[in-house]
Amino acid sequence: MLRIEPSSLRGATTVPGDKSISHRAVMFSALAPGVHRVRGWLQAGDTLATLSVMQALGLRVSQEDGELRIESQGLRSPTWPRLDCRNSGTTMRLLSGLLAGAGIEAVLDGSDQLRRRPMRRVTEPLRRMGAQIEDTEGRAPLHIRPAALHGVEHHLPIASAQVKSALLLAGCFAEGETVVHEPARSRDHTERMLLAMGAPLRLSEDRRTCAIQRPATRLQSLDVMVPGDFSSAAFLIVAATLAPGSEVSLQQVNLNPTRIGLLHILQRMGASIEIADLAETSGGEPLGTLIVRPAALRATQVGGEEIPLAIDELPILALAATQAEGETVIRDAAELRVKETDRIAQVCDILRAFGAEVEELPDGMIIRGPRPLRGAHLSSRGDHRLGMLIAVAGLIARGETILEDEACIADSFPGFATTLARLGAKIG
Ligand code: S3P
Repeated sequence: MLRIEPSSLRGATTVPGDKSISHRAVMFSALAPGVHRVRGWLQAGDTLATLSVMQALGLRVSQEDGELRIESQGLRSPTWPRLDCRNSGTTMRLLSGLLAGAGIEAVLDGSDQLRRRPMRRVTEPLRRMGAQIEDTEGRAPLHIRPAALHGVEHHLPIASAQVKSALLLAGCFAEGETVVHEPARSRDHTERMLLAMGAPLRLSEDRRTCAIQRPATRLQSLDVMVPGDFSSAAFLIVAATLAPGSEVSLQQVNLNPTRIGLLHILQRMGASIEIADLAETSGGEPLGTLIVRPAALRATQVGGEEIPLAIDELPILALAATQAEGETVIRDAAELRVKETDRIAQVCDILRAFGAEVEELPDGMIIRGPRPLRGAHLSSRGDHRLGMLIAVAGLIARGETILEDEACIADSFPGFATTLARLGAKIG
């Protein structure tokens, strides 16, 4: 349980390593026999699920001075074929493509929460490539058996980096070319990392189409630094924007343009976010420092191609909208209903408990602001981003907020409460 009281945040901090890049660094090392080094790797529930599954598939991993050293000799079939992806959708979806391609027999399973999430979006296109993959009424467990794959041209109905990545990973082993078209851009860490490893990957000019050819399994070793996760920084950005008297500097944050939709949305709403120290990692990922100060916000409209660029940040954006002047409308975000929880229903429920005025839409929500918030006693519902949403709302709500079931926050942001406390938050 965490108790949170109104506070301002002041000081400089880093945030834990990017979750998407951390998953990929471990999985992609299976494509290149040799030794890989990853600094700043995220040690969190979801990425540890990937690490232990990949160890069961033959990767040898050690840690020295915060650096992950991965020794890869390719993949081998696990002795015990059930691989536990815990709560991690990214682990299950990316791995299904990798294992189907590599011809490994395994059963991918996970927590009850993960077993409720849709998997047909990966199993169907993989089957079109010749994969032998059975789902359980469209969900986990997934049973994969060895089969030879052929390249196929896929048109994704919804932009999804997880589905795109699964198909590209399968394509690394498939006969002929595998092409993936997306209706809008989704995060492109897979493309950047595969290119940094020297993979035969082609991208269209608008980067909505990518294509890969085999053999893409004798690639260069990774020697990369993982920048801070923008999705984790997002909670601190909104906290410092809303809590009077704050000034926070967030260092070495990943600023990949396919991840920072929230930054542009908040700037449009009037937020004060300065960007400094721009640089690029050896893995081809941009990073920088964000300096955030409080600002009065005005409402905005969010939808269309902006959604995949801010999908994981929409819950915390909704909190910012409760403090903005006017009616904020979030549309085209039905995907939020199939995340760790139904994040449309849950965000509306949580914000209402704090006294906000929110209307639920099938594919988003309408938030009317500004409304003063009052402390609430709520559970994270086992969803890390909802847990952090409640904690940040508690920093600006009158009175005390109590957050139950906060342990899941460590799925993506271990040390979240300590980081906030170091910046001056009354949380503990
Ligand atoms: C992720 C892609 C997104 C995102 C998830 C991580 C990734 O999911 O919501 O947290 O690392 O590829 P979708 O691909 O389902 O949109």
